[in-house]
Amino acid sequence: MKNTLAIIKPDAMKKGHLDNIRKDILDNGFSIIEEKTLNLSNEQACAFYDIHQDKPFFDELVEFMTSYQCHVMKLEKEDAVFEWRNLMGATDSKKADLGTIRQKYGTDISMNATHGSDSNENADKEIRFFFNG
Ligand code: CMP
Repeated sequence: MKNTLAIIKPDAMKKGHLDNIRKDILDNGFSIIEEKTLNLSNEQACAFYDIHQDKPFFDELVEFMTSYQCHVMKLEKEDAVFEWRNLMGATDSKKADLGTIRQKYGTDISMNATHGSDSNENADKEIRFFFNG
């Protein structure tokens, strides 16, 4: 599997980290196949994160993801899902390894700068959510 979906989230966009994160992605051997900046609607954010709808943090997550622009990218690299998750670091920016994107540009478990698909199956679904496959 060579593709995954990446999102630069509102916290990182607001802080002006789009170019830094794109550079980290390209420097680490990914190709950006498609990309766009958008404001997620409430409906889109709820649909995108529907697997988390029963979690206690769901409302906070939707509010955060709709608070400002997101930049979504279809990335390509051998083993893209694993490689992008590795480059992002742990979900909680406070626990992410030094040098990872979430450590450098995120704040905590909620404002964690980026999203990445967690499996090849979800990568397919998430790419189709934003792009034409
Ligand atoms: P992401 O990779 O986008 O997938 C789901 C998101 O939910 C995750 O990153 C976090 O931003 C958020 N999240 C996960 N766990 C928590 C939590 N305990 N509290 C707040 N937000 C969370």
